[in-house]
Amino acid sequence: MFFERHGGGERAILVHLDGQDPEAREDPQEFQELANSAGAETVAFVSVPRHRPTAKYLIGSGKVEELRDLVKAEHVDIVIFNHVLTPSQERNLERVFECRVLDRTGLILDIFAQRARTHEGKLQVELAQLDHMSTRLVRGWTHLERQGGGIGMRGPGETQLETDRRLLRVRVRQLKSRLEKVRSQRDQARRGRQRADIPSVSLVGYTNAGKSTLFNAMTDSNVFAANQLFATLDPTLRRLELDDFGPIVLADTVGFIRHLPHKLVEAFRSTLEESSNSDLLLHVIDSHEPERMAQIEQVMAVLGEIGADGLPILEVYNKLDLLEGVEPQIQRDADGKPQRVWVSARDGRGLDLLKQAVAELLGDDLFVGTLRLPQRFARLRAQFFKLGAVQSEEHDEEGGSLLAVRLPRVEFNRLVSREGMQPQEFIEQHTLQ
Ligand code: GTP
Repeated sequence: MFFERHGGGERAILVHLDGQDPEAREDPQEFQELANSAGAETVAFVSVPRHRPTAKYLIGSGKVEELRDLVKAEHVDIVIFNHVLTPSQERNLERVFECRVLDRTGLILDIFAQRARTHEGKLQVELAQLDHMSTRLVRGWTHLERQGGGIGMRGPGETQLETDRRLLRVRVRQLKSRLEKVRSQRDQARRGRQRADIPSVSLVGYTNAGKSTLFNAMTDSNVFAANQLFATLDPTLRRLELDDFGPIVLADTVGFIRHLPHKLVEAFRSTLEESSNSDLLLHVIDSHEPERMAQIEQVMAVLGEIGADGLPILEVYNKLDLLEGVEPQIQRDADGKPQRVWVSARDGRGLDLLKQAVAELLGDDLFVGTLRLPQRFARLRAQFFKLGAVQSEEHDEEGGSLLAVRLPRVEFNRLVSREGMQPQEFIEQHTLQ
């Protein structure tokens, strides 16, 4: 692209920093999985005790030499750090190793770039990559830098680096304006759904918890599910019918991850935003994962960041097939509301219970009743039909109708007040669920 680097390849050394501070420490196994997801073939996994980070290389110079020898001996293409490196640390390390060096942010971006499926996802990834790149643009050019001369490329007196910066800015502007367009289209689509008042439910959860598998199992569709982190990069929406309830829109979202660099949270706002506009969140948890409590906390923290932590949440303990003696079940809170459901997305056990729990939670505020609407209420009658709220209709002798309706209570109140009527005028009988 805009600057030369040592070509990336597959044979990788993974460098994990074993710090003292448990908060800042990354999980080595997760690191290994991230690298696998990016397509790296791990030649060596090196744990480095990190007593004092050094400004030049992050790690001590003795370790740097050791790694350099390993890179040579094993014909390594890339050294990946499970930590954020400053641009100059990355540059210094590349000089010594004579191969490409990637930090944690770069690694995650690389995976995102491979996985993005929709147009918007791709635009966002490119934007985040350019952003990451812009601070690293000095590298590799010092020996190539020269004044003017390039055919049609460089203005007088403009160095290669300045040209690159300018091109980068142009590209960033283009991407931003395209993203704006895509976003506004998506917002319109979302408003359309809200008008039709189909409740939306989002699957959220730590990466690899099984969201895409569950999404497929619930909707019978075939979204790409792989045993790789971040199989999902874009919200994928499907409509499905729940018994005893009606249609809902189910959204699959990107998996959360510990220490996701802040600018990535920003870059992937759209997929996360989809969840903050939901009526209900299904928090998918890998019940077989020893680190699940820490993962739950992470997910809740990210939900807090995007302002979605106040939404109703149903916990879905997935991968029940990997546990001994646990049956599919709904667990309820003190008020009898479903709080947690145990399922296996893989073999389908518990999915009926999950759908039932979702229907119960969404139907919490339903108005279900029979209305006697004289002819002069024809407009109101038409509105109920438009919302798909009518379950059956009978006509009386005066040409009025007896409507059995079922719709969210808020929607019912909105309709009635818009028509300027008192519900007592026409409610024949009703139950509040
Ligand atoms: P991200 O896209 O990274 O956020 O992942 P995800 O949460 O969408 O996970 P995905 O559906 O891709 O599943 C991850 C892995 O877990 C895959 O190998 C699935 O086959 C596996 N998996 C999902 N559900 C189950 C389950 O109920 N039981 C078992 N044993 N494995 C499951």
